[in-house]
Order: sequence, then C-alpha cells, then structure tokens
Amino acid sequence: MNRKKFLMGNWKMNNTIAESKEFCDQIQSSGLVRLARNKGIVIGVAPSYLSLRYVQKHAHGMIVAAQDAHYASHGAYTSSVSIPMLKEIEVDWSIIGHSEKRTYEGETSFLCNRKIKALVKENFHVVYCVGETAKEYDEGITKDVIREQIVTGLMGLTKEDIQNVVIAYEPVWSIGTGKNASVEIAQDICSYIRSLINDLFGKIASQKIQILYGGSVKPNNIHDYLEAEDVDGALVGGASLKAESFQALVENI
Ligand code: PGA
Repeated sequence: MNRKKFLMGNWKMNNTIAESKEFCDQIQSSGLVRLARNKGIVIGVAPSYLSLRYVQKHAHGMIVAAQDAHYASHGAYTSSVSIPMLKEIEVDWSIIGHSEKRTYEGETSFLCNRKIKALVKENFHVVYCVGETAKEYDEGITKDVIREQIVTGLMGLTKEDIQNVVIAYEPVWSIGTGKNASVEIAQDICSYIRSLINDLFGKIASQKIQILYGGSVKPNNIHDYLEAEDVDGALVGGASLKAESFQALVENI
C-alpha cells in the first residue's frame, strides 16, 4: 500500500508569535511547500495556541494542528481550549496524548479517548501519540504498554473514524534526549501498531493508517526511518522549530 509520507513539527512551548512569523516568512520564501509537494510529502506544524491563528493564516500548504483540545464543547475548564474554538480559526487537526501531557499532567489513555472521540465527531484529524518510558523499555514491556495505549485510546471509534487518525510512536526515552531509537526498534513497534489496527479495525484500515516515528529525529537521521516499511513519517520537536532545520528535514527525506 502506497501511503503518503508525513512530516509534522511539534513546537511544544516554543516559538512566540514573532518567531512563528519569522518561520512562516522563511518557509514562504524558500519554496519548501512546493518541494514537499513534489516529493509527495505532507507537511505540518503544531504551534502553541497563541501562534495558531497566525500560522494557520500564513503557512499556506501546510497542515496546522493544535497540541491538544478539550473533549467538552465549552464550560468551566480553566486554561483549556475547545474544539469549536479551534474550528473558528479553521484549525481541524490536533495532537493528542503526547508523552509530556501524560508525564507532567497525568493524561491517561482513557482521557485521550474522550478527546479523540470528540475530535473525530467534529471531523478533526488526530495525531495520537503512544510510547513507552525508559523503565518500561528496560522491563521489556514496550508492546504491552503500546497495546493498552492503542486499545484504550481508540476505544469506540468506527472504521470511518479511524481514517482521521494518524499514530505517532514516540518512545519517551528518545524524546528530546538525542537518544533516538534504532530504525529496527521503530520499524518493529510501528509494524506492531499496524497489526493492532488490523485486529481492531480490519485490514484496509491497517494498510491505510499513517504511523509516524518521533524522538530525536534530525535532518541527518530522518531518511533512515522513512526507509522502514511501516514508518510513514516523523513527528519532530526540536528540529522543527526553525525554518532552516525544518527545510533540511524535508530535503533529506
Ligand atoms: P524531539 O521531540 O524531536 O525534540 O525529540 C519529539 C516530540 O516530542 O514530538
């Protein structure tokens, strides 16, 4: 199955509006969007909420995603941002379940599930992140952890819903550490995730779903991951913040 390659930058709590503007200006003048299109790569970024509107308006040809969304449409949830608020600024993608949300804010797969269900119901696309900690890796329970995250996170979704979901496998020990997982590990787990999707949603869904690797992906190693059969792209933090580095990622795919 010929799946499109996908490169998504996750800016986390980086890039002010001024820095986001600089990124967009450089991307526009570099012809990067055309280069990506010619190479058949879908590209996107997930800025902070404050920069979201600016980037949505100025990063033509790129997917623009929120880094989270609340499952409720409105209400007493201080600090949260709702799906209608994102829709209002024409954002219809969101990352869900990033390990930093799971680790620092105690986000569970069950909570991710509520968010994912609310998002796909509103026709949003979701990048759902899964991955084991260093301790879980050392204990040899990576696949058990991934299975729980996938089964619980995607509970109750239909075959139609799953078409709006991209999975990102990000081992927690590799995020922002420079200790990227080997291509063999990435391929093994991404292929395992595909087999879980096959069990839950059937063969067609499993062949269609895009599965990304994330964790210390840089311009000098991105190519190797994308050569792996079941790795369809990358979710990139640090190396996606500046336009030059983002461009180098696309060039090296
Ligand atoms: P990193 O982050 O590329 O800086 O390791 C990846 C991520 O958290 O998505």
